[in-house]
Amino acid sequence: MQSTSTLSFLALLASTVSATSSFSFGIPNTYPDFSACLSQPSVFSCENTTEIVNTCCSPTPGGLVLQTQFWSTWTGLEKEGQLLPKGSWTIHGLWPDNCDGSFAQYCDPSRQYDPTPGAGVTPYTGPGVDTFILEFERLDLLDYMEKYWINQGAPNKNFWAHEFSKHATCTSTFDVACYGKSYKKHQDVINFFDAVIRAYHQYPTYDMLAAGGIVPSNTTSYNLTQIQNTLQAQTGALPYLGCVNNSLTEVWYFHHVFGTEQYGTYKSLDTTTPTTCSSTEPVWYYERTASSEHEVRDLP
Ligand SMILES: *[C@@H]1O[C@H](CO)[C@@H](O)[C@H](O)[C@H]1NC(C)=O
Ligand SMILES: *[C@@H]1O[C@H](CO)[C@@H](O)[C@H](O)[C@H]1NC(C)=O
Ligand SMILES: *[C@@H]1O[C@H](CO)[C@@H](O)[C@H](O)[C@H]1NC(C)=O
Ligand SMILES: *[C@@H]1O[C@H](CO)[C@@H](O)[C@H](O)[C@H]1NC(C)=O
Repeated sequence: MQSTSTLSFLALLASTVSATSSFSFGIPNTYPDFSACLSQPSVFSCENTTEIVNTCCSPTPGGLVLQTQFWSTWTGLEKEGQLLPKGSWTIHGLWPDNCDGSFAQYCDPSRQYDPTPGAGVTPYTGPGVDTFILEFERLDLLDYMEKYWINQGAPNKNFWAHEFSKHATCTSTFDVACYGKSYKKHQDVINFFDAVIRAYHQYPTYDMLAAGGIVPSNTTSYNLTQIQNTLQAQTGALPYLGCVNNSLTEVWYFHHVFGTEQYGTYKSLDTTTPTTCSSTEPVWYYERTASSEHEVRDLP
């Protein structure tokens, strides 16, 4: 039912924009123009031995790239249909730390779409970033983000906007200049959302933990070593684990990137941030409230 209505909406959109679109399939592209990178040597970010001349070709200076995820047991807007995906951690973002672990934020005021930025940044009051996704007819992307990129206590779109404006504006490979002369407004936003999802796909945290016998439970606790070893064994590096009251809430996977952040190869690296989970006390990985989650995978 949902896919039928999605398809007819897409068909309607396509027929209304086809007159103005110059692309043969009606869907405008969102990829950058990386032709200038063809003459640049490929390097792992933060491992270059000569100057990176074109920062569209490698994330610079934010070359320590973190794919971050949440484990939450509730959203606060369940009544409005904001639910967590069963059997999956959720997306937090894709962050460009500097090579030494420090970081910059909100690097481009002209691409500030966060309605609640704090940090002395002017709040955004324009249309939500979900409308940008619709401008590019990416209902597939919007559908995926609504399933896996979940906010707490506020609409999901505010969180997506926050992640773009706080972090992607500080990631050089998403600079407007990297999209060339034919840059279409918000193309970088869509390109970033696609990149976040690509990076997130590398880390099915729920499945990796379950493969080590670690599943959510309100009666059985785990220990930090067991959780760390389970993830390290499968990803090749030690991620950051975040706890609140010694219950697991976050994971951050660290990398250097060979090539661009959008399409390059991610090399996993040990965390530069110490865990906030106790190494001696039991660590909890709580089950979610049943009414806070829903099935998102296609059932056979
Ligand atoms: C790597 O590239 C950056 C950016 O161009 C430059 O600042 C840095 O000095 C380079 N590192 C080395 C070791 O050449
Ligand atoms: C952590 O749990 C594992 C698996 O149950 C166990 O073998 C190990 O002894 C525990 N380590 C600590 C420090 O409790
Ligand atoms: C942590 O535990 C304390 C004491 O049980 C409680 O008061 C506090 O609300 C908890 N914090 C969170 C974020 O759950
Ligand atoms: C498990 O505990 C968490 C944290 O206290 C709670 O939010 C959740 O509702 C509990 N889940 C179940 C299924 O009891």
